[in-house]
Amino acid sequence: MTSSGSADGLGPSPTATTPVSEWSTVIDGTPTTFRSVFTIPASADEGLTNNLLPNIEDPQAVNAQDVCPGYKAYDVKEDDHGLTATLRLAGQPCNVYGNDVEVLNLKVELQAANRLAINISPANIDSSNSSWFVVPEDLIPRPQADSTSGNIDLEFDWDDEPSFWFSVTRRSTGDVIFTTENKKIIYEDQFIEFVSALPEDYNLYGLGERIHGLRLSNNFTATIYAADVGDPIDRNIYGSHPFYLDTRYFETGNDGKRKLVKHDAMPGRGRGGHSNGGGSNYESYSHGVYLRNLHGQEVLLQPESITWRTLGGSIDLFFFDGPSQPEVTRQYQQSAIGLPAMQSYWGFGYHQCRWGYRNWTELREIVDTFRAFDIPLETIWVDIDYMDQYRDFTLDPHTFKPSGVQDFFDQLHSDNQHFVPIVDSAIYIPNPNNASDAYDTYSRGNESGVFINNPDGSQYIGAVWPGYTVFPDWMAAEGVSWWVNEMVEWYKEVPYSGIWIDMSEVSSFCVGSCGTGNVTLNPVHPPFSLPGEVGNMIYDFPEGFNITNATEAASASAASSSQAAATSTSTTSASTTSYLRTTPTPGERNVNYPPYVINNVQGDLAVHAVSPNATHHNGVQEYDVHNVWGHQILNATYQGLLSVFQGKRPFIIGRSTFAGSGKWAGHWGGDNASKWYYMYFSIPQALSFSLFGIPMFGVDTCGFNGNTDMELCARWMQLSAFFPFYRNHNTLSALSQEPYRWASVASAAKTAIQIRYSLLPYMYTLFYKAHTYGDTVMRALAWEFPNDPSLAGVDTQFLLGPNLLITPVLEPQVDSVNGVFPGIVDGECWYDWYSGAKVTAQAGVNTSISAPLGHIPVFVRGGAVIPLQEPGYTTAESRKNPWGLIVALSEDGDASGDLYIDDGESIEPAETKFISFKAGDGQLKAEVQGSYGDSNALGNVTILGVDECGGEIKLNGVSAGDVQCDKDSGVLRFSLKDVTSGGAWQGTWTLTWE
Ligand code: NOJ
Repeated sequence: MTSSGSADGLGPSPTATTPVSEWSTVIDGTPTTFRSVFTIPASADEGLTNNLLPNIEDPQAVNAQDVCPGYKAYDVKEDDHGLTATLRLAGQPCNVYGNDVEVLNLKVELQAANRLAINISPANIDSSNSSWFVVPEDLIPRPQADSTSGNIDLEFDWDDEPSFWFSVTRRSTGDVIFTTENKKIIYEDQFIEFVSALPEDYNLYGLGERIHGLRLSNNFTATIYAADVGDPIDRNIYGSHPFYLDTRYFETGNDGKRKLVKHDAMPGRGRGGHSNGGGSNYESYSHGVYLRNLHGQEVLLQPESITWRTLGGSIDLFFFDGPSQPEVTRQYQQSAIGLPAMQSYWGFGYHQCRWGYRNWTELREIVDTFRAFDIPLETIWVDIDYMDQYRDFTLDPHTFKPSGVQDFFDQLHSDNQHFVPIVDSAIYIPNPNNASDAYDTYSRGNESGVFINNPDGSQYIGAVWPGYTVFPDWMAAEGVSWWVNEMVEWYKEVPYSGIWIDMSEVSSFCVGSCGTGNVTLNPVHPPFSLPGEVGNMIYDFPEGFNITNATEAASASAASSSQAAATSTSTTSASTTSYLRTTPTPGERNVNYPPYVINNVQGDLAVHAVSPNATHHNGVQEYDVHNVWGHQILNATYQGLLSVFQGKRPFIIGRSTFAGSGKWAGHWGGDNASKWYYMYFSIPQALSFSLFGIPMFGVDTCGFNGNTDMELCARWMQLSAFFPFYRNHNTLSALSQEPYRWASVASAAKTAIQIRYSLLPYMYTLFYKAHTYGDTVMRALAWEFPNDPSLAGVDTQFLLGPNLLITPVLEPQVDSVNGVFPGIVDGECWYDWYSGAKVTAQAGVNTSISAPLGHIPVFVRGGAVIPLQEPGYTTAESRKNPWGLIVALSEDGDASGDLYIDDGESIEPAETKFISFKAGDGQLKAEVQGSYGDSNALGNVTILGVDECGGEIKLNGVSAGDVQCDKDSGVLRFSLKDVTSGGAWQGTWTLTWE
């Protein structure tokens, strides 16, 4: 067998000498081997990684700035809305990492009051010349100019000396926010580079997806290339977000002059020290930069500059003038990438998942056990275990028998619970020699021509869980409609509530079209062992497990060493490595091995992914659109769910995302591990996704890879309760980690879920604002307190919306945590969620907060009115319970807040209600707008920060009953249940307590 017709001809194919292995599964607790299959050799997924040296690490790398000529501008035409010019190469082509483009068009547009666009594209785009890829409008819409550009605070300047450069300045402050002065623009078919100076010690955020602290380091390269890889730190992972937020802090000195504040000069920044806590001497300005480019790229963050390099496409830059983070994020979402999807109410319930739920019976047991422990469970998820041999849109005929569907769903649905199955990105290609292997999803797709091809027009065949697979082509005429149909048909068999999209980078476990010529071997085993298979048992535990569980830790460590010894193979290391350094060929691109080698986490661009030269039906090569495959499957799945649930909001959680995916889906953080440091990283990852317009975010709570333990799981179940997407997920064969497995985790989870469910009205209102205006849900402290430079890097604490401060414990074996209380210098105050007592903390001082296991510190911001509802077992039950309010008075005795209500599921709700609350001078006024019918009473009201007890509670002037008042802590509690029995929001009312 050969790999003839494969995408790149590289990477060995399995041959008849490949060892045959057993592909086993577990049925009703008994391991069963259902088929003997080939194992794809590990070498099939290696590519040339060992022969590629990333350019940023290559001592021989040529610096394009040294050898390239740059451009000169001609035919410059300027008007009130911008400028156009022709840029011509200013000397001999350098062809350093591609073929230089001789003539470029420059178009600068003052697009809107807050947005400036700079586009540099090849002047002569010949559609027959595959060298130029222009991002299609219907794939990633380009922000358009509107009529409000007059007041823009950004100014574009340019000059031709020594070669063409441009700058963007914030007019109101004179601050140059971007300048390529003294740097050349390099524009080649496979390499684009532009460089801007940045102030020393800059604060940049974004440029995802990666596992990194919130504030990006000033000496680090952010590679952007969608990769299927289990959450390595600082590397490119699943999604692509070529966007950054830049925040600059200024201090006004006694001389009235404004001076830039350097991050490193701040005393005791954030947690773990002291700072001045900001204050009126400081102010900050933020702007956003988005590069609308789909190619593999990297952004070199160096001490005083940013260098952006891409493997193609164009320079299509957008500057958003802010001047604050909330404004930048709104501008970015509203005008560039789209506003995030409104989520269904049930999506905010608690989700339980694992790889390894083996059958309907086990699934039912899980659901029942949650109920028995009285831990709310909204949604049960299934991983690939449910599928027939890992094929999409099927059920395993032995373990998830179709005959079991009705019973399972009758019960689940009558209990108002939900079911979300995984759907993988690759489609199994059946063995043509085995009639019983026929697979309808493949046959229908094949007939409709919806799978990606090789350059020679044959089908591109990679490998994923089921064996050799093909990959949907979202650019094929019937790609999306075929997928929609598969979803609609499958729903008739399995009434799912939403879809979990996995492996969408798009992942393939071998280099090139490794299945070409080998499909008669199907199904085959992946080229690596699955967790729990021989030689791959899981012995890893969280940090600190050796102290808390010394005996188990010792035996795990011994077993792990003997596994390592048994599986170790002797390797002969090559004495010298010769690196592949390709050079440009005139008129041709080398898409599999571009001359510029990005620092891709997988090395070779074709490793563990569909190869760059795989070809779409419209002729586009995967090289040009790799980063949006995951975005497109989310669109297709969204369309599918719209067809299944007409008029209802689709629920999708996807792995690979691009700028704008939030309008269709949420995202989970991928394959983290059961380690304390991954629990910490979940916060900056979530905050980055707030900036990327994907607020529906959460991570695998308690950790995916490795075994978790009681302490980590207890802390994590509490932390994730304050993330929008709240799911516990675990890898195959790791120890079970449902919260009821340990008494203390069960109790910690119950406490946290109770708080979360009480806060559902607050969370839902935040989502309404995210969906309507582009507001964030999880927020960094720096965004709410923009005049405190010491908060610029804080990511160990966060805010849920503007008013709840979460300070989690992120390390083992402690019973307190340090945290700051932001805003105190400006007269803000905070109340303890649990006691209602006002916090006594000093501005900018890290305060030690008691946090024994089972307690997560949560604080309410003075000045907030927070809407609540009594928690039920499910979100449907919660929605029928009495409302509640926390009125947390500011130091001035005021508070305000709001509440949005609708039916919780319609895309366009026929009726809604919006209630605005305003408190001051001993009274609270609720102003009700809208007609949505809700008859729940107003139950518990808690006023925090009252000076005196003894007043009478009156609703619209009529006495409303008993009050509990604790003078010492200033907390007033009462219920309005009786006086609002017809419904809390029937009309506008005024409540008085003094
Ligand atoms: C990879 C996903 O990231 C993980 O969550 C899932 O459990 C496995 N694939 C198996 O489907």
